[in-house]
Amino acid sequence: MNALPDKAFDLRRLEITDLPAALEIERIAFPTPWSQSMFVLELSKASSVCLAAVGAENELIGYLIAARYAQVWHVMNVSVAPGRRRGGVATALMNELFHLTEGARTHYTLEVRVSNLAAIEMYERTGFRVAGTRPGYYTDNREDALIMWRSTDKNFVPPNVANPTDWKGHR
Ligand SMILES: CC(C)(COP(=O)(O)OP(=O)(O)OC[C@H]1O[C@@H](n2cnc3c(N)ncnc32)[C@H](O)[C@@H]1OP(=O)(O)O)[C@@H](O)C(=O)NCCC(=O)NCCS
Repeated sequence: MNALPDKAFDLRRLEITDLPAALEIERIAFPTPWSQSMFVLELSKASSVCLAAVGAENELIGYLIAARYAQVWHVMNVSVAPGRRRGGVATALMNELFHLTEGARTHYTLEVRVSNLAAIEMYERTGFRVAGTRPGYYTDNREDALIMWRSTDKNFVPPNVANPTDWKGHR
């Protein structure tokens, strides 16, 4: 019997043994899903943060992959199993990333499809702001990407911002 309420989940590190379940979620979530080797590459980097959200039976219900480049964390993948969405899983994964990595001057960036309103809303709720676009970024349909940034440094201005004054006005 599952003693935990439906919404209960735990966070832990994503492991190689989670990959079959991750690939299943991935195939449902994205038109161009990550391959197993893309996951393995990130899991093998000491500098990457790879997190899992698991349900009461330790089943994978979501994951987050972030890679570090100097002072910047690039959020490369966040996905939640369809049946577990809108339960705070992605928000918890993002907050855990911030908890593990945040310093006085830590910056986070990501790309998201302009049509992915659910993800854009979730990222805005976790402190990201749109800083620019990458036209035709997605190879499957040439959709534009929004470039979003979050920083713990209030004076940080992302490199993609055309007008720094506008960016500060968004904070
Ligand atoms: C985007 C995604 C990761 C969100 O995961 P989630 O666990 O459902 O997100 P949360 O429950 O933490 O949602 C936090 C907030 O984001 C917003 N949000 C999330 N899903 C939303 C939706 N479908 N429509 C509108 N707003 C949404 C809401 O403001 C939500 O808060 P609320 O539920 O209190 O209203 C999930 O929908 C998903 O896996 N999508 C497919 C993969 C994907 O697009 N990943 C991002 C690639 S850049």
